[in-house]
Amino acid sequence: MIKKFASLLSADASNYGKIMVELERKNFDGFHFDIMDGHFVRNFAFNAHVIRSLRKLTKLPFQAHLEIENPAEYIDMFLNCGCSIITLHPQTCNIERELRYIKAKNAIASVAIDPDIEADIVGNYLSLIDDIVVMTVYPGFGAQHFNEKQLDKVRRLKEIIVRRNSHITISVDGGVDEKTEYKIIESGADILIYGSCLFS
Ligand code: DX5
Ligand code: ZN
Repeated sequence: MIKKFASLLSADASNYGKIMVELERKNFDGFHFDIMDGHFVRNFAFNAHVIRSLRKLTKLPFQAHLEIENPAEYIDMFLNCGCSIITLHPQTCNIERELRYIKAKNAIASVAIDPDIEADIVGNYLSLIDDIVVMTVYPGFGAQHFNEKQLDKVRRLKEIIVRRNSHITISVDGGVDEKTEYKIIESGADILIYGSCLFS
């Protein structure tokens, strides 16, 4: 069963609460929060204070997508404000150590792969991963051009996952909308992360 997450990066911040209630009514399965620090990406977004406040509104899972430098220092902060899925970019940390840490905390350990990074990067530590986020845009901003070539990466990862009989889910983040969702599902994704298309 395909799952739909909503990324609130492009949502009207004065209406987060109303928007989330509405999206839950529309059967979204979870919320995706882009944490940005102005270093790893040239933008700022979300913090633990905002997420903790929004946590009261729903029981749906919260995903913290850590688009920051030194994410290892902040994993506890985002677990403690109610995120049960932690997504890390492997180039920002000692990925194997942090994935082990997240799993030891009974949270979902997720790895995001940038458009310029090959799928093989996860090959050495697949057994530590619960979810892979294939980025079809460069991290940092909503409403960027959807890079369809990244769906080859989804296909390749799906093959590896099926061959290994693994339960890893594949998420797609960036440019998901009513025009791209069909192709994304067809390429093997399990979770679609909808962003700006929900708010335009
Ligand atoms: C980009 C973020 C995405 C973003 C996607 O850095 O990781 O989650 O919200 O937005 P759209 O769907 O507009 O590409
Ligand atoms: Zn994201």
